[in-house]
Amino acid sequence: MSDLDQVTLNAGEKSVVLPVIKPTLGNDCVDISKLTKETGYFTYDSGFTATASCKSAITYIDGDKGVLLYRGYPIEQLSEKSSYVEVVYLLINGERPDAAQLKAFNEELAAEATVDASINTLIGSFAKDAHPMAILTAAIAQLSGIYHASLDLADAEQRRKAAVRLIAKVPTLSALIYRHGKGLPANTPDTSLDYVSRFLKQTFEAADGSYELNQDVVKALDLLFILHADHEQNASTSTVRLVGSTGANPYASVAAGVTALWGPAHGGANEAVLKMLEEIGSADNVESAVVKAKDKTSGFRLMGFGHRVYKNFDPRAKVIGEMTGKVLKQLGVQDPLLDVAVKLEQAALQDEYFVARKLYPNVDFYSGIIYKALQIPTEMFTVMFALGRTSGWVAHWLEQQVDPEMKIGRPRQVYTGSDVRDYQG
Ligand code: CMC
Repeated sequence: MSDLDQVTLNAGEKSVVLPVIKPTLGNDCVDISKLTKETGYFTYDSGFTATASCKSAITYIDGDKGVLLYRGYPIEQLSEKSSYVEVVYLLINGERPDAAQLKAFNEELAAEATVDASINTLIGSFAKDAHPMAILTAAIAQLSGIYHASLDLADAEQRRKAAVRLIAKVPTLSALIYRHGKGLPANTPDTSLDYVSRFLKQTFEAADGSYELNQDVVKALDLLFILHADHEQNASTSTVRLVGSTGANPYASVAAGVTALWGPAHGGANEAVLKMLEEIGSADNVESAVVKAKDKTSGFRLMGFGHRVYKNFDPRAKVIGEMTGKVLKQLGVQDPLLDVAVKLEQAALQDEYFVARKLYPNVDFYSGIIYKALQIPTEMFTVMFALGRTSGWVAHWLEQQVDPEMKIGRPRQVYTGSDVRDYQG
């Protein structure tokens, strides 16, 4: 990066000196906040491809090198040595917990895991085949119905408590949503278990209260949650921040984040990948799928491929890709879709179209195959993403609340409508 500490922008007869902000890591940023005041010009950047919307110390991505750091720690090291709950603590507090802090945090999450009975009524009011993301959005909004009145956003401890509540309760909501879809009775989380085991048991518990925990499954899910925990200013996190910037409570902000995650260009891609692999059906059809994905008139994209930021490889996809075969083997699952996925990845990585556009498998490419092996239904995949991502959303919401530069998010536009005209008649 250059060592400029300011840039000069000439706008007709006016000229403005704009300061350059130096991040700890990554590209320097030109601070344009005074541009409009001094020149009358706005900037236009559809999709925010060149715009930083905030300062953040949580997550760093180098898309050219395939680097992802949570609070400075490489994702590969966290995946190997850490646990999801430790990562959550790290994201929201900035430092790793010691053993006593981790134990206390696990206990706090367990104590907050139960949900109000009104949630069961709400979930029960949805049709059994309603999309789980619709129910999750409503259930999180319901939390704001329960906790909003007593929440003082100026109180740091109350903010922290709200964040912990969300992280603790989203798995419970997810389990209840799964059970509703399957016509199973609502149940309560087993607070004697760890975070991931608690979710698994509540989800799959039989009528007599039994569920045999498989440590390979617990480990695989824990790793998937670590990989999904945060990803700096992606669409859903930016949504949480935008809603949060209005002073809305964290439950409302996170409910909005869930809706943003749902889209197939974002978290909904994991569901779309599995449907795509099922449609392709066999390794023999891979070539024609690649041809179709390159044809802009087909309306078909290779789901689980490409990323706005990663232009080399997605380090999360690398970890998931490596674990997929292992998990299937551990569980004794033989899934022909894995062969389709491997062949598809190979074909795309050798294809000039994908190479030229730097399109690589992303985090969603293999995650669905693992979720399927863990017996999680396809329509629940994006809920699983939301479950892991809740920690990132609340970490960003907490950070935003104490950011002295935080303002309500209010972008401008390039107006392309009619000129002023008189109402006739
Ligand atoms: N299949 C075929 N062509 C693609 C794909 C794809 N998956 N992704 C991008 N392209 C092409 C696109 O048509 C364009 O071609 P051209 O330059 O000829 O017009 C070029 O690559 C650049 O694409 P873009 O849409 O301008 O890139 P973007 O940064 O706006 O979009 C993306 C990024 C992730 C939305 C996009 O790659 C995509 O739609 N991928 C499939 C959906 C997906 O897997 N999403 C999950 C993202 S990772 C998890 C998450 O963060 O939620």
